[in-house]
Amino acid sequence: MNRSVNDISAAVLILRAGGIVAFPTETVYGLGADATNADAVEKIFRAKGRPATNPLIVHVADQRVARRYAAEWPAVAAHLAERFWPGPLTLVVRKRKTIALNVTAGLGTVGLRAPDHPMALEMLREFDGPVAAPSANRSMRISPTTAEHVRSELGNSVDYILDGGPCSVGIESTVLDLTADVPMILRPGAITAEQIAAEIGPVSIFKGTTQADVAALSPGQQSVHYAPLSPAYYFSRDNLDAAVRFCESENSRFIALVSFGSNPAGLSGIRFSRTVEMPIMPEEYARSLYSVLRDLDLINPSAILIEIPPEEPRWVAVRDRLSRAARPLI
Ligand code: TXA
Ligand code: MG
Repeated sequence: MNRSVNDISAAVLILRAGGIVAFPTETVYGLGADATNADAVEKIFRAKGRPATNPLIVHVADQRVARRYAAEWPAVAAHLAERFWPGPLTLVVRKRKTIALNVTAGLGTVGLRAPDHPMALEMLREFDGPVAAPSANRSMRISPTTAEHVRSELGNSVDYILDGGPCSVGIESTVLDLTADVPMILRPGAITAEQIAAEIGPVSIFKGTTQADVAALSPGQQSVHYAPLSPAYYFSRDNLDAAVRFCESENSRFIALVSFGSNPAGLSGIRFSRTVEMPIMPEEYARSLYSVLRDLDLINPSAILIEIPPEEPRWVAVRDRLSRAARPLI
């Protein structure tokens, strides 16, 4: 078998043989296995340390392949796939039996999407089947947006890594449940609720917390929060006082600051170990967020303080990820 870098045919042979392959998508890197092969899928859960109760997203080349694995493909699914695929939108529909049960954590539904990345699409076309792929990180950590992130975190437990450069979107896809009476967004992403509603009419938004959220947000469980590894806190610009108080109570020289655009004037007198000014456009912010957090982790700050972007529709997905990665400063 030719295992030189970026050999898509080699990756496909590994998938067919029941191995696991990390591959780029436009959102984040995925860790893929043949979704019809339960043993192969089991390797993903093991490599990630992921609880078996968390279903995996299944990647397909296009709508034609999606229909082969969906028990129902409602008109709204066809319309949305037509409009947004390939792209960062996962559609949850009823599944056929050929999708292994561990992929969907025993659920009768499956989340399907066609990723908008040339290397992923070529792999999926050549494989001509469904590839189950969660983000290629250890469970509860930050999703990888470069092949190097995957290598440093999962290198030894992956059979092959395709390197397609940095991801252009940078945060995980929007997940839309089409089996509910009113389509429901289970996870916000680059495709917004407004964009979806403009195509198919009203959508609802899931506001509950999953077990993963609870683990991430409850104080005192620092060992298992969603990445980064350093304790992370967020604050908004209209609550700078909280940030100032925090810096006074800790030694600010060991704190890293991630500001929204230029540093808030109210914090200008404070010395941080590192400051990062984030872009003020949602697309650019999302693209760099995870690598910024990974880079800050490497300098091992005592805390990462993040100024959260404003509460506006276009920031919903970024704010969602920040609220999982960090706890509010109050
Ligand atoms: O952007 C993405 O979606 C990336 C790349 C690799 O494509 N993948 C990704 O997969 O984020 P993963 O496995 O980390 O996301 C799984 C999440 C679950 O936590 C759940 O929220 C939702 O997708 N999901 C998957 N299948 C589902 C189902 N049958 N019913 C409800 N939610 C589902
Ligand atoms: Mg993930």
